[in-house]
Amino acid sequence: MRTTHRLLLGDARQLTGVETGSVQLIVTSPPYPMVQMWDEVFRALSPAAGAALDAGQGMACFEAQHQALDAVWAECARALCDGGFLCVNIGDATRSVDGEFCLYPNHARVLTAAMRLGLTPLPDILWRKPNNSPNKFMGSGTLPAGAYVTYEHEYVLILRKGGKRSFSKAEQARRAASAFFWEERNQWFSDLWADLPGADQRLLDPATRARSAAYPLELPYRLILMYSIEGDLVLDPFLGTGTTSAAALAAGRSSVGLDLDANLLALARARLLNARPWAEARAAARINDHRAWLHQRAAAGRPPGHVAEPLGLGVMTRQERQLRVTTPGRVWAEGEQVYAEHSPLPGELKEGSVASGADEAPKG
Ligand SMILES: C[S@@+](CC[C@H](N)C(=O)[O-])C[C@H]1O[C@@H](n2cnc3c(N)ncnc32)[C@H](O)[C@@H]1O
Repeated sequence: MRTTHRLLLGDARQLTGVETGSVQLIVTSPPYPMVQMWDEVFRALSPAAGAALDAGQGMACFEAQHQALDAVWAECARALCDGGFLCVNIGDATRSVDGEFCLYPNHARVLTAAMRLGLTPLPDILWRKPNNSPNKFMGSGTLPAGAYVTYEHEYVLILRKGGKRSFSKAEQARRAASAFFWEERNQWFSDLWADLPGADQRLLDPATRARSAAYPLELPYRLILMYSIEGDLVLDPFLGTGTTSAAALAAGRSSVGLDLDANLLALARARLLNARPWAEARAAARINDHRAWLHQRAAAGRPPGHVAEPLGLGVMTRQERQLRVTTPGRVWAEGEQVYAEHSPLPGELKEGSVASGADEAPKG
């Protein structure tokens, strides 16, 4: 199986080059409104947002910054196929503007905008992300009543275009092969993800910016396995360092990503070309974790009742019987595009048969 990965320089408010209804899943994280590191980006997108900030009008600035993002959500709704999913990682902001401290509820504003576009909101995920910064304790220290709750979570909003996706005959076979393990389901479909530390934020090239604002590879990887099938097309309109595309490649999905910043796109391309070690290690870990779970079940005298034929391993449910875990064997570039050839791993992994790989994180 071959996947294709396109990296486009452009403004997400106009997803030129992304056909209407062509995308099955969007996983993205926008610049967060009312977070200082994005002030200049929003100033360029919306003069009204810059003017409101200069005038010390926090809520007006919040609204103007979101209005710039609204155009992106409209384009996302256009690009999605019927039954396709939009997953948005976003954090709320806390900030003092003109001496007034308050919470700017970004997640609520994005959800409202997406619902106005007709997307259906579904149960979301709280990503608990420990914050080690010195500003952890905000407000009046140990004196009541002016201390503020520490914010250590972000959201993954999940929305769908229309009703449940319908699958053609060919897609039904790919869907069955894309099943996840029962025990993965139990872990991933939780409303609280507390096991994902934030990503390394260093970007060594100061021409880009001080921090990457990247999410960890595991976050889009998991969402891609949860909400798409092998061979689908995954879009990230705010690609940054290319995390979503690298995760799509690891999961055997095609991808298309956009960013305004050409430096970041170059990093994303390099990251895709180096995505193999992480992809192989992650695929092997899925199988090894499943084998460990099988041992536990056997030890407890409760072996599962079905077999995943491609792996030759026991599985819990009928739906897992065609489950396979693929890994990219070859990744190469031709012109602007990156391609990968994927093949299934066996259930029995030989020592040294797969790379043990950290993500080749792009640091410029
Ligand atoms: C929060 S970062 C995304 C980080 C990404 N998830 C990663 O893992 O590296 C937001 C990205 O959106 C880009 N961006 C901001 N406004 C944009 C726009 N109008 N169109 C396309 N990209 C934009 C920024 O350059 C930045 O890289």
